[in-house]
Amino acid sequence: MYRTNTCGELRISDAGKTITLAGWVQKTREFGGMTFVDLRDRYGLTQLVFNMETEPDLCRQARDLGREFVVRATGKVAERSNKNQNIPTGDIEIHVTKLEILNPAEVPPFTIEEASDGGDEIRMKYRYLDLRRSPLQRNLALRHRMAQEIRKYLDLQGFLEIETPVMIKSTPEGARDFVVPSRMNPGQFYALPQSPQMFKQLLMVSGYDRYMQIVKCFRDEDLRADRQPEFTQIDCEMAFVEQNDILSTFEGMAKHLFKHVLNVDFDKPFLRIPYEQAMSEYGSDKPDLRFGMKIKEIGSQVTGFGFQVFDDAEYTGAIVAKGCAGFTRRQLDDLTEFVKKPQIGAKGLIYTRYSDDGTIKSSVDKFFDAAALQGWAEVTGAKTGDLLLILAGKKEKTLKALGELRLEMGRQLNLMNKNTFIPLWVVDFPLVEWDDETQRFYAMHHPFTAPKPEDIPILDIDPGKVHANAYDLVINGVEIGGGSIRIHDSRLQAKMFEVLGFTPEQAEYRFGFLMNAFKYGAPPHGGIAFGFDRWVSLFAGLSSIRDVIAFPKNNMGRDVMQDSPSQIDAEQLKELNIRLGQNEL
Ligand code: AMO
Repeated sequence: MYRTNTCGELRISDAGKTITLAGWVQKTREFGGMTFVDLRDRYGLTQLVFNMETEPDLCRQARDLGREFVVRATGKVAERSNKNQNIPTGDIEIHVTKLEILNPAEVPPFTIEEASDGGDEIRMKYRYLDLRRSPLQRNLALRHRMAQEIRKYLDLQGFLEIETPVMIKSTPEGARDFVVPSRMNPGQFYALPQSPQMFKQLLMVSGYDRYMQIVKCFRDEDLRADRQPEFTQIDCEMAFVEQNDILSTFEGMAKHLFKHVLNVDFDKPFLRIPYEQAMSEYGSDKPDLRFGMKIKEIGSQVTGFGFQVFDDAEYTGAIVAKGCAGFTRRQLDDLTEFVKKPQIGAKGLIYTRYSDDGTIKSSVDKFFDAAALQGWAEVTGAKTGDLLLILAGKKEKTLKALGELRLEMGRQLNLMNKNTFIPLWVVDFPLVEWDDETQRFYAMHHPFTAPKPEDIPILDIDPGKVHANAYDLVINGVEIGGGSIRIHDSRLQAKMFEVLGFTPEQAEYRFGFLMNAFKYGAPPHGGIAFGFDRWVSLFAGLSSIRDVIAFPKNNMGRDVMQDSPSQIDAEQLKELNIRLGQNEL
């Protein structure tokens, strides 16, 4: 055998055994006449010991080992006199009798230990070295475990894993498509799927009533901590189901994952909150329920006092920060700067302190007397010692800003414990949303989402008011997944395309094959897709999905290790019948 054990395996009970290990040199130290080498593999770290007095040649060889040399060592397991409680192998060491250098290594550009001294850019460039570090190895092992448990659960529920194509027709709606030129069909392009949405619906038409796939999806959109241009979905679809069947099947999957991966039990059903309630109470369609601090509308309480900002506002709302009356001027200024950031867009922040000594002090004292401010406390539930934070303006924008402010306060007050998980379903999303810029409705989820049957009569008259049979799974403020019951009637689908502003010809060009398929006996169906990377990063306690992906892109969508995207040579372009614009040559 190449090695008898791994570097994370040996314990005091193995003392006296002769073993062989192989791995990477993490560190060498000299102490008296002894040389110590930390040998690493993905299972852990084991200390090798070389004695100058008894084995001078071997010891000299060990002293010359550089970081990240690949070696094989044979020796005897012995109890350590100086035990290391921090690692599982810390009770033993190996008294080496044979050492082989399997491959020397150049000095790595950063230290490869639990914590690294390398900056982001350099670690991305040498991703294969960063991946040797244990935090990343733990993340990828967690990802593997979760994938196994997902397949196990869904297999037991009768789901079939079916692969769908990666080169498909471009039907952009939502994000932009990545496109692939076709050599054999000059001037024509495939697109990479933003999700296998239409294929899974076609599989329902074909009778595969329970489909799942852990699948790569591609979206050319602006990147954020929880977005990558290529990411992985747990994509699922079911036929002959209603919304409740889907929610209970996948609530079961979520509970299975929590139980078998984190050993967390949920004995109660997940909360279900309508979209409108989520927006009015949390200013978000993905509320973080680890803490309260619900938004309260106070419009009727604050208008008519001559304060223009409130009088002119479509909406005024507030949150109560418990025990924060003592916030300093500086802290309040910082919060004001926070809400004024362009991505939040509030004009200013109004506050009232209900101080411990009984005084009430507000940034709008000129307009409101103590009785009025006391009245605000009553409607919002603010008590002595609390701070009331108020925003006013256009309703939707102000609610979202209050939602962001609520999260910021949650962060500042440490109310978001990484080890507490509060999952919920957000349901009853609007079917469509209006876009002022393009002056048309867009599907809030996607064009195949079914309206609630009771709202179908107003689809023609007031599409903005129609609710969808759509749902999201949200955990700790992260949208983990989303799905819907689909339209399975080709006439209703045609109506939906009309609402979205497609001419019948455009709808036929983009989605004709799906509408055709629906003419041949489409069963009622619905499904959901989960962001696998997001789910893994949530379980790993990370705020970005990057480190649960082996080879991610940076925030410009670049693979800095491969240096891609990159130019292709003239010959390739010619074959593809593509001519670049002057700027790109
Ligand atoms: P949706 O667009 O909501 O639905 O995507 C489903 C889930 O995928 C994750 N996600 C992402 N994760 C990382 N990077 C991205 N760029 C990214 N974009 C989305 C999110 C999201 O909740 N076909 C439908 C599903 C359905 O109706 O069945 C769909 O793709 O966690």
